Amino acid sequence: MSTKDTVLELFEKNRGFFISGEKIASDLGISRTAVWKAVKKLQSEGYEIEAITNRGYCLAKNSDILSVQGIRNYLDENASRLRPEVFVTADSTNNVCMKKAAHGEEEGYVAIAGAQTKGRGRRGRGFFSPADTGIYMSIILRPDAYPGTQVLRLTTMAAVAVCEAIEKLSGKAADIKWVNDVYVGGRKVCGILSEASYGLEDGRLDCVIVGIGINAYRPRGGFPHELSGKAGSVFDQQSSGKRNQLTAEVLNRFMAYYDSGATDDHFEAYRKRSLVTGRDIDISKGDSVRRAHVLGLDDNCGLLVRYEDGSEDVLNSGEVSIVGIEN
Ligand code: BTN
Repeated sequence: MSTKDTVLELFEKNRGFFISGEKIASDLGISRTAVWKAVKKLQSEGYEIEAITNRGYCLAKNSDILSVQGIRNYLDENASRLRPEVFVTADSTNNVCMKKAAHGEEEGYVAIAGAQTKGRGRRGRGFFSPADTGIYMSIILRPDAYPGTQVLRLTTMAAVAVCEAIEKLSGKAADIKWVNDVYVGGRKVCGILSEASYGLEDGRLDCVIVGIGINAYRPRGGFPHELSGKAGSVFDQQSSGKRNQLTAEVLNRFMAYYDSGATDDHFEAYRKRSLVTGRDIDISKGDSVRRAHVLGLDDNCGLLVRYEDGSEDVLNSGEVSIVGIEN
């Protein structure tokens, strides 16, 4: 770990309290100049660190900057094997993971960014990823046990993990619009994009990147016009370390589901949050849209639908919108 990261770890553990430069230096076995340089570097990266003569340094209690140290503070046993890396800005954390995976990065690497310049959504859309208010993260998985046809399960595990993390930290109910959009109070607060790569020669699943984008807070300038009627945020106001905590809690829940495989727990947790069950939906495939009624979900979280002509089908992919509401 670099000196800067070690100093940050100490600040995270003492958030809101002053620690003298002398104490930091002696605790970490470094010089006071090295402490000062680390503080300067952290401040230049956006950390709100107050420096007062004779008192020392203090990481602001309400600073909510994403950091590996801040996230690690909340990771539990399930997620301890993950290797998070935090970027102030990335083009797309899915791209970061794709590139890393192509160079042999093992399962468990997590790219987390405070902003994305080319955030990607489903069906070739962009994903609005402004600085300081969202969490954009992607996980590299190399699941032996999941044939390609069951990748849908990973996405749905991520959706359940996000809902549970939101409920734990905000106290608000979170629901899922099939397949993987998370809604709070009727507004989308999270989108998930899973991408897989397969071996060219044997066609085997090589890796899956699960990308999760969460609007933790309302963006400073508001949502762009096209999203303003449907996008929302998890928390009403910024507070100390919440984004680190939410990131860790999503990872904790996701790894617990991932490690135990496709259990009834996961299906049940998904089913009970399904916003589309019993509703009329429009299903978009390519350029065509077909109306159907949702009968329920099968054990793989496939969508059981009845079309207007009475025929029934199970959908394992596609884009749906609930009739009668903006979504
Ligand atoms: C959607 O709602 O269409 C899916 C959005 C997925 C966004 C996340 S943010 C982290 C990861 N990086 C990306 O570029 N996309 C995913």
